Formats: sequence, C-alpha cells, structure tokens
Amino acid sequence: MPLKHLSGNFLITESFPVFAPMSAGSSRARAALTVQAAGQTFPFMLELLSATGSKIEEATPIAMFADTEEKQAAALKLKELFDSHGSDKAGSNKGRGHNYHLLYGSILVTQDASAVLEIGLGTNNVEFVSNMGKRGKPGASLRAFRDFLPSAHVYGADIDRSILFNEERIATFFVDQTDISSFSVLGAAVPDELDLIIDDGLHSPNANLATLIFGLGRLKLDGCLVIEDISPRSLAIWQVIAASLPPDQYRSQIVAADQAFLFLVRRLA
Ligand SMILES: C[S@@+](CC[C@H](N)C(=O)[O-])C[C@H]1O[C@@H](n2cnc3c(N)ncnc32)[C@H](O)[C@@H]1O
Repeated sequence: MPLKHLSGNFLITESFPVFAPMSAGSSRARAALTVQAAGQTFPFMLELLSATGSKIEEATPIAMFADTEEKQAAALKLKELFDSHGSDKAGSNKGRGHNYHLLYGSILVTQDASAVLEIGLGTNNVEFVSNMGKRGKPGASLRAFRDFLPSAHVYGADIDRSILFNEERIATFFVDQTDISSFSVLGAAVPDELDLIIDDGLHSPNANLATLIFGLGRLKLDGCLVIEDISPRSLAIWQVIAASLPPDQYRSQIVAADQAFLFLVRRLA
C-alpha cells in the first residue's frame, strides 16, 4: 500500500522497513520497536566495531589544526573574507556562526589549490531547508574561497536553482543531495580532481553520504573532503564511517568545533 494511505503505527513500520522487526505483534509495539532500532543501530554498530578491534575516532579540537603561525594567519585572512562576504563559517551571523576558518586555514594554507567544490550556496529562500534566512547572501563562502585562493576555480552546487550564478572563477550547478543520480550531471561539469570538497548543504546523514560517495573518488592526492555541521547526536554514524574507510587510502578525523562537529577525510593514496 502507498505510504500516503498509511497513518500512525503502520506509517512508521512501512516508512522504515530497514529497522522494523520481522516479527508478529501489535502494530503499536512493532512501531515502537522500529523507532528504538533506528536509534540504537549506529551506537550498537560502533560498539561492535570497537569490540572487534577497530580504532574509534575521538574528536580533535578544531584549534589544534591551526598549529603554526602560517596556518593561524591563513585562518584569520579567511575569517575576514567569510565575514565580509556574509558566510557564517567564521563566527558572523549575529554570534550564531562557526569557527571553521581554523580548519580551512590549515587545509588551504599554501593557497595553491586549483579546484574547490562546495555543496550549499546559502539560499535566502526560507522555503528551503537549511536556508540562511531572508538576508542570506547566496554564494558568500564561494566568493571567500575564490578571493583567498588566487588561482583556484571554485564550484558550487545547490538544490535552489534560482540562486545559481557564474562570475569570475566561480561556476555553480544544480544538485539534490537526496537524489544521488543528480551528482552525475554535477560530476560532468566539475574537474575530475579537486583539492577540497565541502558539504554545507542539507546536513542530514543520507545527504552527507551521497556527497562522500561522489566526492571521495574525485579528491586529488592529499585533497580533503569536509562534512560540516554534524550534530553531537549523530556522531556515532560518523565514527562508524571513519572506522569503515580503508586507512591506507583515507585518513578520517572527527573535528570538534564551537557549535558542531565536522568530518574530515584526507586522501592518502
Ligand atoms: C547553510 S546553507 C550554505 C551556506 C554557504 N555555504 C555559506 O557558507 O555561505 C545550505 C544550503 O544547502 C542547500 N540545500 C538544502 N537541501 C539541499 C539538497 N537536498 N541538495 C543540495 N543542496 C541543498 C540550501 O538550499 C542552502 O542553500
């Protein structure tokens, strides 16, 4: 039966078949167990990985990345650019911003990156989830990266087609992170190898995974992929993912920032 015709307990068990018990019982009890399974599955996976000897990533404070004067200077310059262009990556946005410049300053310290891709332009259309409010400035962080990196081309992608734009060394494209096939059009438009890929889009685990599936194979050697704005409540998912990536090919880290966590992957081989 189509989901739209279901309600209450049946809607829960049919919407989340992965977690529904394959057992007889009242619809109420089965729905409650389905919700419980959704909540327990990743924490239990993490326990299993730990019990079987996998290394479980603990969070690294973001300030530890800016560990040289050069990196601190780069972070400060990036902060000024994020703030002046209207991105919340470095603490603007009426104090509700982040301190992500400390991480990006360390990744981009040499300023020789040639290709950066960010999912999430910053729509000011409040109908879209993950919007930046009516006063948001779409493209703010793309412009900051463009101005910081003298020879880079900066690519952006977003679900809101009405904010896509092209200007000096910036090109943007449509993507819907919940539709993995939409990444193939994006993939054809951007270079095969990227120095940095950022996910600042929908901020839900399935959307993030779609970015990882697309992005890991597009990283240059030593290139980085960053998933922003991870809730402390989702951390187990990212610890499981960190433990699942092949350690000889990727170095994964969980980064603790002011108000959220980030997931950082560097391509090693
Ligand atoms: C927080 S804003 C990005 C802010 C911007 N990076 C900055 O720092 O200025 C998040 C963006 O993700 C976009 N978004 C929401 N859902 C999406 C999806 N399913 N696929 C792609 N982008 C999405 C929103 O339209 C919004 O523009």
